[in-house]
Amino acid sequence: MTAMGKAGFGAHYAVHLPAPDDFEFWRARARALVQAEVPPDRVSWVEPGATGDLFAGGAARGSARLPQPLADAPPVRASQRFLAIARSAALNRDPARFALLYQVLWRLQRQPRLMEDSADPEVRRLEQLAKAVRRDAHKMHAFVRFREVEEADGTAHFVAWFEPDHHILRAEAGFFMRRFANMRWSILTPRGSIHWDGETMREGPPARREDAPGDDPVEALWRSYYASIFNPARLKVGAMLSEMPRKYWKNLPEAALIPGLVATAQARAAAMVAAGTRSERPRPSSLAELAQGIAACRDCPIAACGTRAVAGEGPPRARLMILGEQPGDQEDIAGRPFVGPAGQLLDQYLEAAGIARGAAYVTNAVKHFKFVARGRQRLHQSPTAKEIDTCRWWLEAERALVRPRIVLALGASAARALLGKTVSVTRARGRAIALEDGAELWVTLHPSYLLRLEGEARARQAALFAQDLALVRARLEAA
Ligand code: URA
Repeated sequence: MTAMGKAGFGAHYAVHLPAPDDFEFWRARARALVQAEVPPDRVSWVEPGATGDLFAGGAARGSARLPQPLADAPPVRASQRFLAIARSAALNRDPARFALLYQVLWRLQRQPRLMEDSADPEVRRLEQLAKAVRRDAHKMHAFVRFREVEEADGTAHFVAWFEPDHHILRAEAGFFMRRFANMRWSILTPRGSIHWDGETMREGPPARREDAPGDDPVEALWRSYYASIFNPARLKVGAMLSEMPRKYWKNLPEAALIPGLVATAQARAAAMVAAGTRSERPRPSSLAELAQGIAACRDCPIAACGTRAVAGEGPPRARLMILGEQPGDQEDIAGRPFVGPAGQLLDQYLEAAGIARGAAYVTNAVKHFKFVARGRQRLHQSPTAKEIDTCRWWLEAERALVRPRIVLALGASAARALLGKTVSVTRARGRAIALEDGAELWVTLHPSYLLRLEGEARARQAALFAQDLALVRARLEAA
């Protein structure tokens, strides 16, 4: 059977896409058209609401019904590379993208290695379209800023406004769902909106900038924090503009400061050199200010994870500081340190050792919960040494305010945060280590380690843990 016989000689076909980002729909139709041997110049791909759609109305304006694939048609060839690029390119706002995709798919049937020819103008164009989409997605991950809104029932809802260049909103929904699994949030864009209530994703209509909240107190804080960490000596305007293009500035609270900071950078850098300091960041003067600072901190990627920063808690002048690694799932939800399973185990051992938790200041080396989402579960991930070191500034500020005589580090991350280098718990435990401010550091295991052990191994480690706590108790009495 000939193509002309089945597809109709000279007939033109219009394929109406149900949505501008519906790659799977394009793919199914494109495969059928290839198998019906309909060449690219006889197909129009029409997006919803497209103007200049010569074939809108289908047969009424001369467009034929789509042909059936030929019964003896060979399978459609589409390499993995083509599919990966095509999936992204389909989200580009270029109105010619679906026609180009079909053109390349058509050629692939005769030139299976076409995608390897990066000098081919059509392959190059497809790669450019895909690259622009990937860049847009990257900017969305980096520059979406949620503002907190209180719902009528008192719950928090986080709303962000973003202006993507391409049709990436639906494709990127999964990224935000995984990252902010336990928050209620909405992302509003001029192309549509998405809403997550912690369980279900809903799509909504396009929005306007005014539909999203403007400045809020968290934002004001974040702005002042950004100004304090902005390092004028490191300023590279070109690099900054390529990473943070001007078009995103209007939605970033910190961006309002950029022109002023850039303008004064030279003078401020000179002043820093003169003063011999590497950072102008002012230390918080109270624990409340510190808590606000960590809530606004975006110094490392973990800060964008989870629900909230978890500040330390306890008497502001406690003699003992207990330092964990980072908040876990339950701490992230409750906004308090050591309230989950590891915290409950810690409480039991503290009580058995005669140490009153209420008299200690309990905090963490890293103030945000780092996790990977697995379905509805959020699985703990250890912070990297760099993340611990980045958060160390806050811990030092906290220690400077509380000024504990004794610091008990639970596990290697906490010990690293205090010593600035990695140490083995086995080697460091059982003795006091002098900290630079005169306090004593005691290192022991993290209670979540005990939770992972069973049988004899657990009994052995539990005895060592109890022994470490008894030593701390004795020092507290002596100090
Ligand atoms: N593990 C920690 O290190 N800290 C917490 O707050 C909870 C669990």
